Amino acid sequence: MPEQIQPFYTVHSDHCSLVLDCRSSGSNHDRHGPAILYWGPRLGAETTPEMLALMATRQEAQACMPEEAPIALSPELGAGFQGNAGIQFHRDGRQWASYSKIDSVTEDQNGALKIVSICLASEIKVTHRLALDKHSDVLTTTTELTNIGSQCLWVDQCNAPTIPVPMHYNKILGFAGRWGNEFQRQPVDRFMGTYLRENRSGRSSHDAFPGVILHTEQTNEGAGAAYGLHLGWSGNHQIRVEEQFVGRAYAQMGELFFPGELSLEPNQSYCSPTLYGVSSENGLSALSQSFHRYIRAKFRNSSRAEKPRPVHFNTWEAMYFDLSLERLCSLADKAAAVGAERFVLDDGWFKNRRSDSAGLGDWFVDKSIFPQGLSPLIDYVQAKGMEFGLWVEPEMVNPDSDLYRAHPDWILSAETGLGEVPLLLARNQLVLDLTRPEVQEYLFKCIDGLLSQNAISYLKWDMNRAVSQPGGTSQPGGTSQPSGAGGRAVPHYQTLALYQLLARIRDAHPTVEIESCASGGGRADLGILSHTDRIWTSDTNDALDRLRIQNGFSLFFPAEIMGAHVGPKDCHITGRSINMAMRAGVALFGHMGIEANLLTMEESEKAELTAGVALHKQHRQLIHRGDLVRLESAANENSFGMISGDREQGLFSYALLDSHANSAPGRLRFCGLNPEAQYKINIVWPLKPSSISKSILDVIDGAVISGDALANSGVQLPIMLPQSLLIFYLQKH
Ligand code: GLA
Repeated sequence: MPEQIQPFYTVHSDHCSLVLDCRSSGSNHDRHGPAILYWGPRLGAETTPEMLALMATRQEAQACMPEEAPIALSPELGAGFQGNAGIQFHRDGRQWASYSKIDSVTEDQNGALKIVSICLASEIKVTHRLALDKHSDVLTTTTELTNIGSQCLWVDQCNAPTIPVPMHYNKILGFAGRWGNEFQRQPVDRFMGTYLRENRSGRSSHDAFPGVILHTEQTNEGAGAAYGLHLGWSGNHQIRVEEQFVGRAYAQMGELFFPGELSLEPNQSYCSPTLYGVSSENGLSALSQSFHRYIRAKFRNSSRAEKPRPVHFNTWEAMYFDLSLERLCSLADKAAAVGAERFVLDDGWFKNRRSDSAGLGDWFVDKSIFPQGLSPLIDYVQAKGMEFGLWVEPEMVNPDSDLYRAHPDWILSAETGLGEVPLLLARNQLVLDLTRPEVQEYLFKCIDGLLSQNAISYLKWDMNRAVSQPGGTSQPGGTSQPSGAGGRAVPHYQTLALYQLLARIRDAHPTVEIESCASGGGRADLGILSHTDRIWTSDTNDALDRLRIQNGFSLFFPAEIMGAHVGPKDCHITGRSINMAMRAGVALFGHMGIEANLLTMEESEKAELTAGVALHKQHRQLIHRGDLVRLESAANENSFGMISGDREQGLFSYALLDSHANSAPGRLRFCGLNPEAQYKINIVWPLKPSSISKSILDVIDGAVISGDALANSGVQLPIMLPQSLLIFYLQKH
């Protein structure tokens, strides 16, 4: 006997509640699909869903539909929804108007809900899954669409469940960016109409990170209400926030399909990527803390989680393609001496890869550089006490490669066989069709071979071009590619095939860590993070750029995931010259690394770098486990803290990016500590902090100050040079 459907379902986590409206009929409520009635701070036992429903009573407005179609989890065209329907499909132009009725609701022992709705008219079944994680308060939710008809169903959209947005959350914080400048906050005032971000790059992209924050006028870093939404998907996506003229707003995220990309044969299903959501009452700090807590609990393989994140040395900006065993060994000497714990050999090590114009696809060690393979280098690196990591870019092929010469048909293209569509190269490379089983097999064998024959503990998995012509090459069967798909767009299947390949490699080599890189932070999302351990945040190692990038990145991802390297003094990407105190002080708040030529670096810089690495290691546990406290900062400043869970200690960073308008700066407020405790305050970075005249720097070190004074009164900052920072360590006294 199926359980009777209740009108409402309420799920609680430690600090949040989610109430689902599942009334399927009633005099005033001829509701069809399920809808979110409430998502926000945890409701007390005295609050009933009926109260919420009563308070939500709306009325007919002039020249409007007498009854508004609800903002259901998947708002439907058959219900007259005039916004963007959550699921959109047809059968040769027919059966597009779905009007689903709830068929069953089940709740598992953790309170996760599964709601099945059926539309007999369009012959579809829609399954919504929703769960609130108890400790992090993160909402996870998906929409699954099943074809229960007897003919093919063409699917144009199947978004993750739609989130009604309270009208007073009238600010949209989206993200813009480009190569070398990812995760840039893009604030927009919500307006009547649609805020839409679309990504067709075949990866989560540099310019349209799949996340959006909706908040009130009053919300800031430390206070106020906000929803944070993220789509865990590494392919194409759309983000939509619409304020309807009827005075309602909603947010929707889902995959973005190319024409004809998705069709479902009878009984086939498609499930949307997972939407991860946080409802915060305490500003962006609490919002990011929730995401971080969730990621730490759910996304890190426990054996890796136990291990401190090793400090990297990466060869890219030190050597580029100009590799030699001798220089690599010399670099390994220097890297070990400054404190690196993992040596990562970047691009250029494989057959004929002397520049970015050849070699991709031929994943065999170049004998002209490494006549005896990688072992001599790996042995050397290990003898220095470091692990060894290797760069790969498996999804790609250069036309100038043995692989392409042997298999020119293994690539994605817009080819139809009827007329010419030019093949577009980017960085001299093409994209392999991972949906072909033989391509998967080839790549698995290459990587498995490298990992089996060499002591490699880490892969930097790169992806250096957009998938701009994502037409498949006709081989159905390897993944869930629909049959007869020759020439059809395959970004969805390509992304699944990538996940499958990564999963297979991880199964075969469970201790090998993988970094997700796509020309920097072009593939940063919780889809790829299910298969990887670190994200390369950006190709720019310019510390000033990094502060802004890390600020955006850290809204969603915790510090231990965030690759952050100390680059050369003159930044290769911006040309800006930045001293070591600033470079190291910025990188040490992530998964730290070094990416500069240590063979030419001045001794004094190296000594400072060594101290920076040591400081990172000393506080690594706090940085990689603590709570990020976001602080209000003026446009020419950047400040934040990392506080231990027990509030016993904190590390705060204050950076001055550009000159102050006033002759002396303001105060830094150390929020988030225990107001009742006393803390000893020390400036731990730079090594010799100084100012133009006698200042607070001369009196603050070692002072004991109460948590409430630190937060509410704050410490006067010294007069600092632009492009400099101070790091304070506070320990309970
Ligand atoms: C991309 C990465 C860089 C580096 C190069 C190598 O640009 O983001 O870090 O690995 O490729 O070609």
